[in-house]
Amino acid sequence: MIKHLLYKYWTRYKKYRFRKENKKLGTFISKESKGYQNVSFEGKNRIPDRCNFSGKISIGFATTLGYNNMLMGDVSVGKYCQIGADVAIHTTNHPINYLSTYINKLLFNGELKTLKTTNKVVVGNDVWIGHNVIIVGNVTIGNGAILAAGSVVTKDVPSYTIVAGTPAKPLKKRFSDKIISQVEELQWWNKTENELKAIKPLFFKNLENLEDLYQ
Ligand SMILES: CC(C)(COP(=O)(O)OP(=O)(O)OC[C@H]1O[C@@H](n2cnc3c(N)ncnc32)[C@H](O)[C@@H]1OP(=O)(O)O)[C@@H](O)C(=O)NCCC(=O)NCCS
Repeated sequence: MIKHLLYKYWTRYKKYRFRKENKKLGTFISKESKGYQNVSFEGKNRIPDRCNFSGKISIGFATTLGYNNMLMGDVSVGKYCQIGADVAIHTTNHPINYLSTYINKLLFNGELKTLKTTNKVVVGNDVWIGHNVIIVGNVTIGNGAILAAGSVVTKDVPSYTIVAGTPAKPLKKRFSDKIISQVEELQWWNKTENELKAIKPLFFKNLENLEDLYQ
């Protein structure tokens, strides 16, 4: 009983310390979210209510999560991404080539858990993930991609491409190939605040029918 209570308070204290340390880096973490044991936030992140983490997860600078996000397994998210509500990223699968997919401890004390397979999801920088998107498997999402609301993403998404549907398929590229390579080269997400101020007009340019970022 005492051991249980001590564990409860120790966990609560660790969570408090984690939130406080991250607040120093400008990150807000809701009290209503959980599972930070192996999570790192680069700074200025927003983690609202009901987010659940489990696994080795890194979240890049200024990336904001949505309500009820679930990030499970080996997940890396780049800088300046925006994730909508009810998004799930799952990198693990129950065993599918064995007698049962059941891995709960109610059967063989959970020993079948060792048969789980683990993948990795890598999300680039400046990715917009719409409401209710699910990402599964071994997937890399390129910089500047958009995952349309409700998509189930099972394959890599090239940079600056919009994908939609179940399974998600490319709808279109956001910009011309030339502009895509110019933005990839610019890597604005790695710039300092002052450097960003210097190129601020670029962010207000409608690139839809342009061929050159600097024209
Ligand atoms: C993808 C999105 C950005 C729109 O992009 P767009 O290029 O303007 O797309 P359009 O509206 O011109 O639609 C293009 C096609 O994609 C389809 N489409 C658009 N969004 C879709 C979606 N979420 N799922 C499936 N298909 C979709 C359209 O029906 C259309 O199909 P058609 O060519 O057969 O008529 C938008 O639909 C979306 O999903 N936004 C996310 C909103 C959201 O989740 N916000 C909250 C989080 S911050």
